[in-house]
Amino acid sequence: MDFKDKVALVTGGSRGIGRAIAERLAKDGAAIVLADVADSVKTTASEIAKQYNVKAVGVTGSVANEQDVKNLFKIISDEFGQLDICVNNAGISINSLTMRTSADDFDKVINVNLRSVFLVGKEAQLIMMKKKYGRIINISSIVGIRGNAGQPGYSASKAGVIGLTKTMAAEVAKRNITVNAVAPGFIETSMTKELDDKVKERYMEMIPLGKYGEVADVAEAVAFFASDRAKYITGQVLVVDGGMMLT
Ligand code: NAI
Repeated sequence: MDFKDKVALVTGGSRGIGRAIAERLAKDGAAIVLADVADSVKTTASEIAKQYNVKAVGVTGSVANEQDVKNLFKIISDEFGQLDICVNNAGISINSLTMRTSADDFDKVINVNLRSVFLVGKEAQLIMMKKKYGRIINISSIVGIRGNAGQPGYSASKAGVIGLTKTMAAEVAKRNITVNAVAPGFIETSMTKELDDKVKERYMEMIPLGKYGEVADVAEAVAFFASDRAKYITGQVLVVDGGMMLT
């Protein structure tokens, strides 16, 4: 896949799936902007720049905060003057049954996982419209399709991401901007490391391919949507779960 001359934004890109996506796009020549609350985003950006010989910038801020998102897009405009690929990957999970979840925790998850897709997606469309080209890829989750006991805010946010993906896709198709979602199953990252061993064993039994997913598996699906191979696909959700949705 050729991403030379393309500029890609990856939110939550300092580690995990976001970093793997950024590396995959950089490997094929994309310039990279990483946005993350973690200060380590700057180090990740300079490591990617060095390893793949591309321009890469790390911007600190919360994608759930409107002002931070405006600052981020000011930097993108000033430094690159264009945005071709936007990957909404930043996310958090707070796990407890609905009856034990505070309204504050519910809101926090919705804001980071869903409000951010609205805020960043909106700014991305505004800049992409000028060039009449764009690829927006939102990271959902299979729990946004099937639900999951103990993840009320998380599953609702990820279902919301799918609804927003389809709406945005319909709104911007005429401007040659596609909007798609990737819904991973169980991927080995810091987010899933926190789960206790019993829960992990239960998940493993639910995966027909018999292994957890790797960050690179998600990155390949994102790269496909970002590439010209997917130019006639919009408003779709690609599940990357080793068959977990089948059980
Ligand atoms: P992670 O916890 O390793 O990485 C998430 C990144 O998002 C971190 O770098 C974090 O600092 C950043 N972040 C958190 N809040 C932010 C905010 N307000 N603004 C900007 N950045 C923020 O998690 P992982 O596993 O790499 O997850 C990435 C995405 O994939 C998330 O949206 C997650 O919900 C989704 N996902 C992960 C699955 C898994 O099994 N690991 C399964 C399905 C979906």
